Amino acid sequence: NSQSLKKSYEKYFDIGAALGVREASGTEKRAYPILDKHFDSLTPENLMKWGSIHPRLDEYNFGPMDNLVELAEKLDARVVGHTLVWHNQTPNWVYEDENGELLSKEALLLRMEDHISNVVGRYKGKVHGYDVVNEAFFDDGQYRTSKWYNAAGKDFIKRAFIKANQIDPDTELYYNDYNMWKPEKRDAAIELAKELREEGIRIDGIGMQGHYGLESPSIEIIEASIVKIAEAGFKVMFTEVDIDVLPNPVNRHGADIDATFEADESYNIYKEGLPEEVQVQLVQRYKELFELFMKHQDKITRVTFWGIHDGGSWLNNWPMPGRTAYPLLVDKDYKEKRDIIDTLIRV
Ligand code: XIL
Repeated sequence: NSQSLKKSYEKYFDIGAALGVREASGTEKRAYPILDKHFDSLTPENLMKWGSIHPRLDEYNFGPMDNLVELAEKLDARVVGHTLVWHNQTPNWVYEDENGELLSKEALLLRMEDHISNVVGRYKGKVHGYDVVNEAFFDDGQYRTSKWYNAAGKDFIKRAFIKANQIDPDTELYYNDYNMWKPEKRDAAIELAKELREEGIRIDGIGMQGHYGLESPSIEIIEASIVKIAEAGFKVMFTEVDIDVLPNPVNRHGADIDATFEADESYNIYKEGLPEEVQVQLVQRYKELFELFMKHQDKITRVTFWGIHDGGSWLNNWPMPGRTAYPLLVDKDYKEKRDIIDTLIRV
């Protein structure tokens, strides 16, 4: 217990990590001991997204996800299905007929349901819960005008949850989004979840992604969302936690996560290593977050980190390439950051 995150938190909530193809398949040998020691929940970082698992109309690529499920069995870890319906990493053909014309609402929803049947059906009984729909709102709480929404309105969300539940009635179903600390966005997600529930459609929880900075958002504002989601009767999970210590124009200032920025050295200020004083701030930030999670352990069912080690973090490439990021619990050489881990174990 004194060494392992998952053992330290096992009475309270699952501790998860997002995995890439190499970690899921075992090709990255350094991943296994870390996963075995610290994590009891696994999320596919990319390999269950539509473009990866269903790249062409008649072609599924289940291999990488099969590997992840097999690994989870070996580790006795739960599997999170991420994600069935999203506006990103979804090929254009999904929305189009064979002539490249946009599908009608009904044709698109049938295609979506077919995808859900095939994916959820294959992993029936093996996935603890799905991020059924990812990022359907803008930060101001308006529905995101994605190709899904433009074609089908919010019916795409309802039909996705209904289908997933019909195919695997035992799996949990979640709505997942970033910047869920923003009151307008969080309230919109709660409204959606209540609407589904009132219509008799299963939804178990709301995922707060948790891509945070060192100072923002505040612990208080994150706490308000935990409380509101739980008061509405839904499980809360932190689904994609990482802490970006680099200057980042997105998230802090309300820019949309889809915004793109020029690569610029002024954003890559710690490429030679993280200064000691910033490392101390990072430990402190993680500590405050986990104190918050423990305060609300009756509401929170899982805390997942968006990656295993710094070298594999998406933050090296987002919101622009050429960053050297330090967001996770293990460094780029696969060495555990014992200062962070030991602190979290003592929370
Ligand atoms: C990211 C992955 O980490 C990257 O490897 C990929 O290039 C883009 O997607 N919100 C989500 C995740 O729900 O699926 C995203 O993952 C990060 C933001």
